[in-house]
Amino acid sequence: MKPSITRILFSTLIIFAIPVHANDYESHKDQIAQAENLILNFQSALKSELKKAIEEGGAEKAIVVCNEQAPLIAQTLSTLEGVSIGRTALRVRNQNNLPDAWESEILNKFNKQKEEGSTPEEMIAYKEDGSFRYMKAISMQPMCAMCHGEHIDEGLYAKIKKIYPHDTAINYKLDDIRGAFVVSLPKKSTPQ
Ligand code: HEC
Repeated sequence: MKPSITRILFSTLIIFAIPVHANDYESHKDQIAQAENLILNFQSALKSELKKAIEEGGAEKAIVVCNEQAPLIAQTLSTLEGVSIGRTALRVRNQNNLPDAWESEILNKFNKQKEEGSTPEEMIAYKEDGSFRYMKAISMQPMCAMCHGEHIDEGLYAKIKKIYPHDTAINYKLDDIRGAFVVSLPKKSTPQ
């Protein structure tokens, strides 16, 4: 029996598609691990600072953590040359966190993936141009609602608005994609 042309085409596609993808991952494996590690450190430092502040002084004190500590922690983690970490979102509180074209495209893709049932762990993206850039989705958890949810305390929101008059980072529901971590790493030097 002669194999059909579609069958030949299909198997050729599989043969070519898999290694290309695997190679791409293989060649960036170390950078992906480094980016994941930075995100883990940033996330756990932020969360523990937030928790501590809420316990000590409530949400109003915690605003200061997000306002001052978040950029500071990000800075501390970005001391190596060419390394940086931050956060972005389609709707932001701080205008400095607005996404660029690639970041917007990925954030839209993450929202689509979420609708299709992906977990935040699966929502990552990377590309290499001038540097190696890595993104990972951040989803809404119960503790985020007091400052980004649908029913924010009026007094608290007045304080937020005072610092961020152009805030649009509200009305998120539990498990929504709130935004993403963005990591930038130096491009891997090609072996001589
Ligand atoms: C006490 C209030 C408060 C809580 C609780 C809080 N945030 Fe925020 N969030 C802020 C503030 C203030 C900013 C602006 C920080 C800055 O100036 O960079 C912010 C910024 C962000 C950003 C960066 C994009 C933007 O909108 O500027 C993300 C992403 C984010 N928060 C996610 C979360 C998540 C996820 C949680 C829960 C784990 C959370 N936040 C809990 C107040 C809060």
